[in-house]
Parts: sequence; C-alpha cells; structure tokens
Amino acid sequence: MDHQARQHPRAVFLIGFMGAGKTTVGHALAQRLGWRFLDLDDRIEQRQGRSIAEIFHDGGEAAFRRAESAALEELLDELRHSPPTVAALGGGAFVQEENARRLRATAWPVVFLDASVEELRRRCALAHSARPLFQEENRFRQLYEERRMRYMAVKLRVDTEAKSIDQVAAEVLACLQLPARAGSAPGEVR
Ligand code: S3P
Repeated sequence: MDHQARQHPRAVFLIGFMGAGKTTVGHALAQRLGWRFLDLDDRIEQRQGRSIAEIFHDGGEAAFRRAESAALEELLDELRHSPPTVAALGGGAFVQEENARRLRATAWPVVFLDASVEELRRRCALAHSARPLFQEENRFRQLYEERRMRYMAVKLRVDTEAKSIDQVAAEVLACLQLPARAGSAPGEVR
C-alpha cells in the first residue's frame, strides 16, 4: 500500500513557512502535472465564511488551529476519491503533531519549500501581507526558529532562495519523479 501510494500518489503536499511560495509554486506544479490545485487556507475561509485574519481576531490562534485540523481531515478523506491534487498547507499546519501524523499515514509526498528568514520576511512584506503571524517581526523570527526542524524532518526539500516560481516548480517535479503533462512547462518568469 505504501509502495503504491508513493509510485502513484493521489496528492502532493507543499509545506513551509509563510512566504515560502507554497501557493504560487503549487499552482505552477499543478499545471505541470495536469492536476487540481487546492489551498487549505482558502478551504478554511470558505468553510468558516470568514478570512483567516478574522478567525484569529475572533477566536485566537487556537480557534484557527482547530479549523485547520478539521479542514485537513476533511481534505484527506476527500482525496481518496477526488482527482489527483497539489495541496498547499498553511505554514503552521504541519507543525501540529496530529496533522503531521495524518499526512504521514497517507504515504503521499510532502515537500518542504525552504528559504532564509530574511527572504521570507522580504516576500511577505512585498505582498503587504495581512497574515496575523507576520505582523510582529520578533514573533515571526521566533516561529521560524521553532518550526524549521519540524519542516526539515520531511524527506523532500527544495530551496527556493533567489529562484523563479517556474524553477522551483521544476525542481519539485524532479524530486517527486512524477511525469509532467505533455507541453505543460510554462516559460521562465522574467
Ligand atoms: C500561518 C500561515 C498562514 C495561515 C495562517 C497561519 C502560520 O498560511 O495558515 O495565517 O501559522 O504560519 P501561509 O503559510 O500560506 O502564509
């Protein structure tokens, strides 16, 4: 079963810190594979009828983590019979042990998109990010330190520093050893 899941995965999960490029790379990767793309944060917002910032504001981080775990559980269940999917998970999703355990149990690939904390802050700032956990610089840096070892525990890691979205998507595809859809590789971002 594990072997089958690795050879013919029904899903690939992208994890990493805020600003790692999970959503943008996820879209590019899904296009290359001819798979569906799904962003877990978007799913949470749809289910809750509120933005992530509102969930944090109304119920604190704990309320958000509960919604995140519930959305992940629902997604994993759905993936057993949905089309193959590239799923981008929010930066804290994999850090919750129960979520990591559920992901490991699928035996589907989990890819860590890595970058330095300086680069991640720069990207979030460029996007004028409303992410609740981006707002305080010290908190952002501390979380990065706390989480990095967790992310490093997965087998597949792609460094995203100073690379285009397409370059990172191509590297993820190469490390997954999955065939790209014919004629799907877009040109380089200029
Ligand atoms: C979070 C990251 C966010 C979002 C929420 C919490 C985190 O997603 O899930 O704001 O704990 O790192 P991105 O990693 O896509 O920014």
